[in-house]
Amino acid sequence: MSQSQNGMTPLEDDLMLSRHCSRYIMDFDLEQIPHMYTDFLIIGAGAAGLRAAIETSRYGKTLLVTKDELGESNTTHAQGGIAVAINVGDQVSYHVEDTLKAGDGICNEPAVKVMVEEGIDRVLELVQWGANFDRQNDKLVFTKEAAHRMRRIIHAKGDATGEETEDVLIRKASDDSEAQFMDRTFAVDLITIKDHCYGAIFLDEKREKFFAIISQATILASGGLCLLYRYTTNPDISTGDGYAMAYRAGCEMMDMEFVQFHPTSLYINGAPRFLISEAVRGEGAVLLNEDGERFMKRYHELAELAPRDVVSRAILEETTKTNTECVYLDLRHLDSELIKIRFPNISERCLGYGIDISKDLVPVQVSAHFMMGGIKTNEDGETNLKGLYACGEVACTGVHGANRLASNSLLETLVFSVRAANSANQGRLEVPQKVLTLKNISNQKTDKDQNIAKIRNSIRKLMWDKVGIIRNADALKQAISHLGKYVDIKPKTREGFELQNMLDLSRLITYAALVRQESRGAHYRSDFPERDDKLWNRHITFRRRMD
Ligand code: SIN
Repeated sequence: MSQSQNGMTPLEDDLMLSRHCSRYIMDFDLEQIPHMYTDFLIIGAGAAGLRAAIETSRYGKTLLVTKDELGESNTTHAQGGIAVAINVGDQVSYHVEDTLKAGDGICNEPAVKVMVEEGIDRVLELVQWGANFDRQNDKLVFTKEAAHRMRRIIHAKGDATGEETEDVLIRKASDDSEAQFMDRTFAVDLITIKDHCYGAIFLDEKREKFFAIISQATILASGGLCLLYRYTTNPDISTGDGYAMAYRAGCEMMDMEFVQFHPTSLYINGAPRFLISEAVRGEGAVLLNEDGERFMKRYHELAELAPRDVVSRAILEETTKTNTECVYLDLRHLDSELIKIRFPNISERCLGYGIDISKDLVPVQVSAHFMMGGIKTNEDGETNLKGLYACGEVACTGVHGANRLASNSLLETLVFSVRAANSANQGRLEVPQKVLTLKNISNQKTDKDQNIAKIRNSIRKLMWDKVGIIRNADALKQAISHLGKYVDIKPKTREGFELQNMLDLSRLITYAALVRQESRGAHYRSDFPERDDKLWNRHITFRRRMD
């Protein structure tokens, strides 16, 4: 760990973290494990992985591996849209400024400029490849989301931008590239020798077998981690596998305390949270508390379109004050037909619970939504390990700072995946014929008898209660002590490996949150409620002490 101000010495912190998070890879001979070679290995099949694969397949043999079905990714669930500075009256400099402001002082400005400038070409390229963004009289229409100074966000099928983006990229990668896909194949650990990465070990779920893919360059594009929290807008796959693997392999991890909570997800007691896009507020919906008061005006001049962290904390405060479970989105004053056309999926999902969004109040609550931190990369997707690149949510270029501006995530993904692919081509390694690999995983006691579901639920509850929207030292220390009680679970199945990853990452996020003794962006400490530029205008970076 690079710094510590929490009363523990850096060494103690480091030992605590390193004692857990042990790797599955140890001395072993390649001859004893099935393996294959490729030029480029890409892990993850959301927009980042697909876009990177389209690029690398121009240079060499590309294998894209995903733990689920092709098409099931965080990207697919994105609703709002893609922020891009192409509307009349908009400018790259405006988009840059809005991004920096939302990031609350610690965005990596050069990376923001790259994203906003190159994002325009990446989006136009998507249109060329057939992305059907919503139009009126043949012209793209733009919506508004929180903290954007103007309408800047393009969208598709109303509220299904992610699905459209994913479909176009899958089509392009399948039809126009040589990339090969492997689904239902779970990445267990990266293969490294000293500070070089040569691929990864996988669990083939269909055949219940471990095998290795040895590659000249490896790109991690494995998406987010918000399933660590009890309430999340993310799909079940968001267990943070890429972050955990990278950390175990010795990657520098940056900004892990910055988890973004989305203010509005559908609140139905007992049902999973479902995102109600910020674009709904962008189109004029307002938030009401239990007493029917439009409370956001009391919290911020931008009211419902204040930055996400402000709206999230306001909702929490209102529900605590009135001892209620949720607040309400009110769309009743908007044109009912337009609303249903603009938000068909949201409308349908709510109707499934008997809520007509044009006539009824929509109950909403805050949910974990996006990870700003991750594997530290430069603007070319390079990590501190040679041969390993990262892009998409799993990577941290510092582009989002402490708080991501709405709908910047698909833009970031498209831009930095292409850059990562190009630098991966430049930095291809010569692969060794003998590689360090597995501890004998197959001899481990099975994890089936370890009640994975129970441990997983208890970690998710702990993270929500103690490391959530409002944090303080006592709660964080309780979380650390609680997390320290879980022994590493020696997994053998996908569920077991996912759980171990969630455990490793919960520890990391909690430590980072304890170290940052200030409030900034999405990280709010009730015991340090102010932003403290003198001490904390910087990033916190962890790196695991290697065995
Ligand atoms: C939303 O539609 O509100 C989510 C978009 C985003 O997270 O940027």
